[in-house]
Order: sequence, then structure tokens, then C-alpha cells
Amino acid sequence: MTGAPRLDLVRGDITAIAVDAIVTAANSALVGGGGVDAAVHAAAGPRLLAALRPLAPCPPGGAVVTPAFDLDPPVRHVVHAVGPRHGIDEPAAELLHGAYVESLRRCDEVGARSVAFPSISTGVYRYPLAAAAAVSVAALRTATTRVTRCVLVAFDERTHRAWADALG
Ligand code: APR
Repeated sequence: MTGAPRLDLVRGDITAIAVDAIVTAANSALVGGGGVDAAVHAAAGPRLLAALRPLAPCPPGGAVVTPAFDLDPPVRHVVHAVGPRHGIDEPAAELLHGAYVESLRRCDEVGARSVAFPSISTGVYRYPLAAAAAVSVAALRTATTRVTRCVLVAFDERTHRAWADALG
């Protein structure tokens, strides 16, 4: 069955969400970093970084997939999505849209049917929150994928509110 996935919005830590795949907000070099990337690498363990080495670089708007290593079941995959750096990578909206759509493509490639997304690019990469929420919801609502459930994981209240507004 392909079509647009169901979207659920939750507050919390993405490393605690029970889905087949979790998405981290990575950089093009795929070398880990702060924010959600730090939390995912800490939970998945050092094999995650080693698995990324042959996959780098990943351009903004792209995504790669690795095993989830030390993350608890049912999580089997980590999708490393590279969002645009606001004011640097252009066209920003298209690249952010691409990061979400490419993440779903990687999920389809590995047979993941449920996936959790952080708010890509709205932290260190300073993408304006309301605009990013609109882009991400539009991307996920119009995607054709075998993923049936996307969990939007808001780490803080302002992100939760922005996504709630975008979901209408
Ligand atoms: N679970 C869910 N979301 C989280 C978590 C977590 N444990 N920790 C942080 N976040 C949220 C942030 O609050 C923000 O809303 O993830 C969102 C994305 O922020 P960043 O992690 O800073 O990602 P981004 O803005 O895309 O910047 C990516 O930062 O960490 C580095 O290696 C990363 O270079 C890359 C850049």
C-alpha cells in the first residue's frame, strides 16, 4: 500500500520513540554533532559513526540510512537527514522538503513502516520554526511511500506548537 502516512505529534526525546526507524538531523559530513544528532549517536553507540564513514558526504536535502546498533528494539534503522543551513543552503524550502522526502525513501528501501522525525534544521541550522513546520507537514502529507506512520517528535513546547499549528 502506498500513499501518505498518518502523522502523529508528540513531545519528547526521539531516542525513546517505539518505531522502526528514527531520523536524526545530521550534517553533510555525517560526523555527528550536537542537538538531536548527539542524542542519537549516544544512544546508538560508536558503531553509528563508523557506519557513516563510507556514506559521507550527504548533500543538504539528502538522507542516508544505517542500522540502529545499540538503540532499543523496535528501532532497527537510523535515517541521517541533512537539512539546509538557513541563509547558506538554497533553495532552502526545497532542500528541507527533500530531507523529509528522502528520509521516507530510505525507509522504503529498508522496509521501515513507521518513522520518527525531529524538527530538521530548526536548531543549530536556524531555519525559522513556523516555516519549517509548514514545509515538513506539506512534504509528509504529499509523499507517496509505504511508510504508514510518521511521528513528529517535538523536543520543546515552541516546536510542538509550531507543528500543531501546521497540522491545523
Ligand atoms: N529528540 C528530539 N528532538 C531533539 C532532541 C531529541 N533528543 N534533541 C534536540 N532535538 C531537536 C531540537 O530541539 C530542534 O528542535 O531537534 C531539532 C533540530 O535541531 P538540531 O539537532 O540542532 O538540528 P539542525 O538544526 O538540523 O542542525 C544540524 O546540528 O547537531 C548538529 O550534527 C548536527 O551539524 C548538524 C546540525
